[in-house]
Amino acid sequence: MNTLNENALDQLFLKARTINIWSDKQIEDEKLKKLYSIARLGPTAANSNPARFLFIKSQDAKARLKPYLDAGNVDKTMKAPVTIIAAFDPKFYENMPKLFPHVPDARYWFEKSPDMGHGAGFMNATLGAAYMIIAARAIGLDCGPMAGFDNAGVDKEFFGTSGYKSNFLINLGYKADSEPHHPRLPRLDFTEACEII
Ligand SMILES: Cc1cc2nc3c(=O)[nH]c(=O)nc-3n(C[C@H](O)[C@H](O)[C@H](O)COP(=O)(O)O)c2cc1C
Repeated sequence: MNTLNENALDQLFLKARTINIWSDKQIEDEKLKKLYSIARLGPTAANSNPARFLFIKSQDAKARLKPYLDAGNVDKTMKAPVTIIAAFDPKFYENMPKLFPHVPDARYWFEKSPDMGHGAGFMNATLGAAYMIIAARAIGLDCGPMAGFDNAGVDKEFFGTSGYKSNFLINLGYKADSEPHHPRLPRLDFTEACEII
């Protein structure tokens, strides 16, 4: 396989930024379905797919989310066309017969040990949410991920029946032309973060 061309790399990583100021352009439900159809193909351990996504789009749903946001995250979230609650299903192992059918015991790897189930599930749900960000960029959307909110409050408000646990939020939309970006913050250099042995 080839390296993606420069434009694709720009859109996914090199020029992609976290977005806080949104244009008025809305997102069709079909686009959200397309987004999930791509993001779900990212790999997870034993194909466990533990991530769950609630797309907060209506004004009613936004109003329900608002009280749980940290003050600095309120305005941008209220103005974003969609906010995803990226969550984790603690009972994700119940789907293993569908997702990993060639190993009938696979659900028990996760179910028998709450620690392993939660650890592996949460790790893979976080991966799923990260794939969501990259998939969104790949189909021309912009993202603003946020961890600054009351997880327990959101879980009670939105996941009382399902028992899902919120992980982080992702504002989704199209950036405004006027986005006054601060310059990209530094990242660690290869020698600071990596080692080849
Ligand atoms: C999991 C996660 C949680 C974040 N939480 C917040 C937040 O609560 N509020 C906020 O303003 N930015 C938040 N950010 C945005 C980061 O600060 C931003 O993505 C980072 O500085 C990189 O910016 P860049 O993509 O423009 O290079 C979060 C990002 C991630 C990935």
